[in-house]
Amino acid sequence: MGRTIVVANQKGGVGKTTTVVNLGAGLVEMRKRVLLIDLDPRGDLSAHLGVVKEGLVGTVYEGLLKEGMGMEEVIVSVEGVGVEVAPADSNLAAAEWVLADMDSSEREQVVARAVSPLGDDYDFILIDTGPGLHLLSVSALAAADEVIVPQQCSYLALHGLQQITGNIKQVQGVRPDLRICGILLTMHDRRTRHHQQVIEMVREGFGELVFKTVIPRTIKFEESPASGQPITKYAPTSEAAEVYRKVAKEVIERGREA
Ligand SMILES: Nc1ncnc2c1ncn2[C@@H]1O[C@H](COP(=O)(O)OP(=O)(O)O)[C@@H](O)[C@H]1O
Ligand SMILES: [Mg+2]
Repeated sequence: MGRTIVVANQKGGVGKTTTVVNLGAGLVEMRKRVLLIDLDPRGDLSAHLGVVKEGLVGTVYEGLLKEGMGMEEVIVSVEGVGVEVAPADSNLAAAEWVLADMDSSEREQVVARAVSPLGDDYDFILIDTGPGLHLLSVSALAAADEVIVPQQCSYLALHGLQQITGNIKQVQGVRPDLRICGILLTMHDRRTRHHQQVIEMVREGFGELVFKTVIPRTIKFEESPASGQPITKYAPTSEAAEVYRKVAKEVIERGREA
């Protein structure tokens, strides 16, 4: 049975999608079978990997909610990268309304029902979520074994960190076995003393929960989506690619420890 990991943080722009794409690509390089599920109606993950709408049988919306259709039917492979993707588009926004009409126990199971049959086909299923803790994200957390929380190295963002840990505790009320795989510090600017202080504070507060690897801020992460490739393909020898390979190793190690 593979590991299902949700990447979540209430805040937008903290590196969730970047982490799903590049951690996924790093795991593929380590010969893991990886599925990425785009659970954000913005479809950033799908766009980042150049998945085009034309010719798709369906998207995550249908995979989750269309009668007689399963998630496996909407999965596409990304050529040259070796990851598989369940893509999303703006239709997924409507899923919130459908979920809102369900009773809470049914709603929480929507993602689990679609994803758990795939558990034997992959070593890792990584789920990207949108900003805000919407019904879809809660359902994703309920389907997951673990959660990774990306967080920018800036002070204001710490407030968001307290919120997400609060939210994780809430979900753990429903799913006590949900593990925090780790908090990943992102967009670190080494020239900024302030960022260093934030890293120290987060390590003090959360200890071993924080990944050893810190993701530096570099323009390469903004460039790579335009190429339709993960950083490990766009700039394979860059430090940016190397740090996500390290995160992939840490994620594998953390699975062994658990
Ligand atoms: N380490 C980084 N350095 C520089 N830019 C980054 C980094 N990580 C992500 N970005 C850029 O910041 C923006 C937000 O990142 P993204 O992963 O989309 O965040 P989220 O999914 O949490 O909204 C994107 O334009 C992305 O390319
Ligand atoms: Mg995103």
